[in-house]
Amino acid sequence: MSNEWWRTAAIYQVYVRSFADANGDGIGDLPGVRSKLGYLAELGVDAVWLTPFYTSPMADGGYDVADYRDVDPVFGTLSDAEALITEAHDRKLKVIVDIVPNHTSSQHPWFVEALAAEPGSPARDRYLFRDGRDGGPPNDWESIFGGPAWTQVGDGQWYLHLFDPGQPDLNWENPEVRAEFESILRFWLDRGVDGFRIDVAHGMVKADGLPDAACSDQASLLTSRALPYFDQDGVHEIYRAWRKILDSYPGERIGVAEAWVPNAERLARYLRPDELHQAFNFHYVEADWSATAFRQVIDDSLAAVAGVNAPSTWVLSNHDVQRHVTRYGGGEQGMRRARAAALLTMALPGSVYVYQGEELGLEEITDLPEEVLADPMWERSGHTERGRDGCRVPLPWSGSEPPFGFGASSWLPQPQHWANLTAEAQRDDPDSMLALYREALRRRRELPAEGLEWLAAPEDVLALRRGAVTCTVNFSAAPVTIARPGSVELASCPVADLGVDEDTVTLPPESAVWWSGDRDG
Ligand code: NOJ
Ligand code: CA
Repeated sequence: MSNEWWRTAAIYQVYVRSFADANGDGIGDLPGVRSKLGYLAELGVDAVWLTPFYTSPMADGGYDVADYRDVDPVFGTLSDAEALITEAHDRKLKVIVDIVPNHTSSQHPWFVEALAAEPGSPARDRYLFRDGRDGGPPNDWESIFGGPAWTQVGDGQWYLHLFDPGQPDLNWENPEVRAEFESILRFWLDRGVDGFRIDVAHGMVKADGLPDAACSDQASLLTSRALPYFDQDGVHEIYRAWRKILDSYPGERIGVAEAWVPNAERLARYLRPDELHQAFNFHYVEADWSATAFRQVIDDSLAAVAGVNAPSTWVLSNHDVQRHVTRYGGGEQGMRRARAAALLTMALPGSVYVYQGEELGLEEITDLPEEVLADPMWERSGHTERGRDGCRVPLPWSGSEPPFGFGASSWLPQPQHWANLTAEAQRDDPDSMLALYREALRRRRELPAEGLEWLAAPEDVLALRRGAVTCTVNFSAAPVTIARPGSVELASCPVADLGVDEDTVTLPPESAVWWSGDRDG
């Protein structure tokens, strides 16, 4: 790996609450993560991104931070975090932590102080307090989780929260806010973290005067439309300041933007040479299962980052979206497509993200009992949106009964059929999803860092070349015969199902193959 490890890194997302529970309270924790570093090293990823583990009342799974410099007791202690970083480094794994700068928790000392202070006071100026309009909120903005984005306080003023009322938005025009986050970055950089995943990176700066959005249906995390509270040009100045801090530390410390923006060009603006290193490619998550859609999103993504000399990222799942086995149709079809998507994704130039459990082929759990739902979206939507708990069910590690080695219990129930999908059950099975990920991650290291050449292929097939490897993907539900690109290196389907001939190969439905050399090779 070159010095710029992040250009090609495979980054594994750990949703701490649901990864591994070391102390038996049913909630994943940092010692639990530490106990599984061997698994991650064996899987073959380069870095681990940890979702927020800071002190939090957990109004939004920890994305409501009350103390950015400490660990919530439910997740462990600050020394657990330090031990985790050290041990990860010993195992040659980088560590990326989440930073949540758009909002704090309503229990953060600053917000407590703001509530006790007068309208117009310096304490209120750290947040976005405003007087109402015509007896209602100051403007028409909606919370991403449903309902108005404003909540009224005792003296009649309203405060902005793009998410839950427990997540008041900070005022990034206030120099104290900027200085505080620079100090928080340094706090974690001093503890050795290799980078930050920046939550709502497109949200910190709001349009001047907080104008109405003047459109219905604003509320969605996945929105790509232009809105007065997202993707404002002023946000880039913050990243230019942060980049200077990152660059002032030894090693390559990185910033990764979680930014939902209208298109790949807007996203690339976050990746200009003096800003951030990577941004999540949510357009890839949104691509429909078709050769045309994937070809388009891959081309658009690569073209946009080429202009700023940044790598593209490739993301299939995370803790906010439906797991892709389910998104691709569920059942055997979803699994087949997910295996093919994994091989395509790992063949692409840039950095790839793996969300915990996708390497086990886990599906979305869509029938969690209502009484266990914890996502604020469930309450805020008036019980019309079940929310994101279905992709956050604790991982199955071993054994034949829930909680499958996750801990002594699990905070969300796991389905019985996950007995077949535990890490233990898959470890030695060469046909398992886990084996496919391990092999693809290993061979991916041999691909060139950059460059992708499309080869001619029938309508429903993509064929691309990366150095000595050709990757073919048959998106259609029917077999397709093509000229044989080389010898089989890795396949998402049983190799016996590939109709390999001297000159041709028949690709089974919804399958991907890596081929090496030329056809005689
Ligand atoms: C994006 C995070 O990924 C999501 O889980 C969270 O609810 C929002 N940002 C608000 O912090
Ligand atoms: Ca625990």
